[in-house]
Amino acid sequence: MSAAEYRIEVMHGVNLDMLGRRDPVHYGTLTLDELERRIESFATELGIEARFFHTNSETEYVERLHGLRDLVDGAILNPGAWTHYSWAIHDALDLAAVPAVEVHLSDVKAREPWRALSVIEDLCLESIRGKGEEGYRLALARLKQHLDERPNVTGETEQ
Ligand code: DQA
Repeated sequence: MSAAEYRIEVMHGVNLDMLGRRDPVHYGTLTLDELERRIESFATELGIEARFFHTNSETEYVERLHGLRDLVDGAILNPGAWTHYSWAIHDALDLAAVPAVEVHLSDVKAREPWRALSVIEDLCLESIRGKGEEGYRLALARLKQHLDERPNVTGETEQ
């Protein structure tokens, strides 16, 4: 098998390790491990190496973002409830300076009003919500498109 073209970090935040036990109407029935295996196969189809990170600690999430630039070409973030209020994660993502897409399994804009705000939205290429696991496939494809179109040192787009 040829080497993957891009490395993408998929970063799950607070309470996402409880998938499978959370409300299936919003979050489906897959466990986090099962979801990650699906994302891994979406990534393989696209020639991407997916890496996975989960924590319930905001500090660890921020620190992971601090080190991200040297590790990967892009990131998919689902920070769970931190999405709606963690300006610390906003600032760490800004510092990380990697292309990022935000994904939420549920449609956060159509639920309680406090979920409508995303503090990372302005730093992301796209925010995908309410599409379940398919949202991650769309996010990987969006990042790949962005990385393919990135000008290289000679000013041409990469093939
Ligand atoms: C979530 C939406 C958040 O509002 C919630 O707190 C989560 C999961 C989602 O994937 O739909 O934990 O990010």
